[in-house]
Amino acid sequence: MPLSIVILAAGRGRRMRSALPKVLHRLAGRPLVEHVYNSVLALSAHRIQIVHGRGDEGLIEALSHLDVDWVEQPEALGTGDAVRYALPMIPDSDQVLILCGDVPLITADTLARLIAVAGLDGFALLTAELDDPTGYGRIVRDAASGVLSRIVEERDAGADERAIREISTGTMVVNAARLKRYIEQLTCDNAQGEFYLTDAVELAIRRGETIATAVPESTTEILGVNNRLQLAEMERYFQLVQAHHLMRHGVTLLDPARFDLRGDLEIGSDCEIDVNVVLEGRLRLGDRVKIGAHCTIKNTLIDDDVEILPNTVIDDAVIGKRCCIGPFARIRPASVLHDGVRVGNFVEVKHATLEHGVKANHLSYLGDAEIGADSNVGAGVITCNYDGIAKHKTVIGADVFVGSDVQFIAPVSVSSGATIAAGSTITKNVGERELAISRTPQKNIPDWKRTGKK
Ligand code: UD1
Ligand code: MG
Repeated sequence: MPLSIVILAAGRGRRMRSALPKVLHRLAGRPLVEHVYNSVLALSAHRIQIVHGRGDEGLIEALSHLDVDWVEQPEALGTGDAVRYALPMIPDSDQVLILCGDVPLITADTLARLIAVAGLDGFALLTAELDDPTGYGRIVRDAASGVLSRIVEERDAGADERAIREISTGTMVVNAARLKRYIEQLTCDNAQGEFYLTDAVELAIRRGETIATAVPESTTEILGVNNRLQLAEMERYFQLVQAHHLMRHGVTLLDPARFDLRGDLEIGSDCEIDVNVVLEGRLRLGDRVKIGAHCTIKNTLIDDDVEILPNTVIDDAVIGKRCCIGPFARIRPASVLHDGVRVGNFVEVKHATLEHGVKANHLSYLGDAEIGADSNVGAGVITCNYDGIAKHKTVIGADVFVGSDVQFIAPVSVSSGATIAAGSTITKNVGERELAISRTPQKNIPDWKRTGKK
């Protein structure tokens, strides 16, 4: 059966009180509407359209990686009006699945069931019973027969109707030819002065159509985000679901309520993650990786038996086996740490390759650098990579000993086996096994009287 999908994403979302389109607000690091898109991908529709508002170039740009057709709704005149602009692209014989871009937890399974109950050319509505139906359109049924008669929006509902706990999720499947007719017949004679898509239900019933209904596997699937409170509640729910999933797959989370994954994580066995760890983007962790409390790690590959100590920040790096990083370390983009590297407290690494066994244990900046295997970098070592105009590289060979408080004025290179004396400023290349020392000679002046003191 040919299926077209329309995702409604126009309108500012007044209740968010935000300059950002509502559907761009993020749940677990992804825009709300991207969650909806990911759910519908499995349905193999021949076309997915997203309806956006006028001036929403930012939305299209932020979601340019989605394979969809963008349709503009010139003015946010309601959900029914929004659908109007998607119709010209849809052949009459299609079934049309319409979803709200602000209902992100909907699953492909539930949608597949809804499509199935609609059949080849029927009309089906996804409904749910909520303990607190505030804000949703209520399903009104005939008192005697129990047959669905219409949907009433909360702002148009009387007290009796507001008490109804059965709600419309805004998700429906309709035959395209008939949908086109219903959209033409919508009026905006209601509390919000909008064209409500939900009124298509009443029009269909008046025309003698039967409306099938389906309910989601879990009511959490149909929760909509209309304000920042709902967004925060949904985030906590989503994070807990992810945490439970990881724990079932053999990951130890010291507190599942204090874990945040905003992206995709591939993880080996027997990993342990302490509290308040935030993982972002695409991450792969090997086996037996330990992450201490309060770390933020983004777009990084971490191999087996690595230990990340508390308060470490890592972004866009590759970390080899048995490395130990932190506490309070910062690994910035394009850094590669080979096996057994040790990076300690208050060390910043940026665009640098540290070969296996390198140690930089305290208070250093290693930027635009290559450091050879088993070299030791003392406390307070800095690669001076920037001359105010361009960045330059520091290349250090294998088994080099760099004493404390050394500055490398890049571009500069140090060959293998060299020793750099503490306190040196290195401006010239150093040869293999040479000692480089550049210090002002020490003078000791006897019987020194300190000024200001008797
Ligand atoms: C809508 C439904 C309501 C349902 C609820 C489920 C209508 C009239 N009401 O209410 O019955 O219970 O969803 O979450 O359909 N949008 C546009 N253009 C517009 C207006 C809205 O594209 O002119 C988009 C929004 O971006 C949003 C979706 O449509 O993604 C729903 O709009 P929203 O204002 O959130 O409607 P609700 O009040 O939640
Ligand atoms: Mg909504």
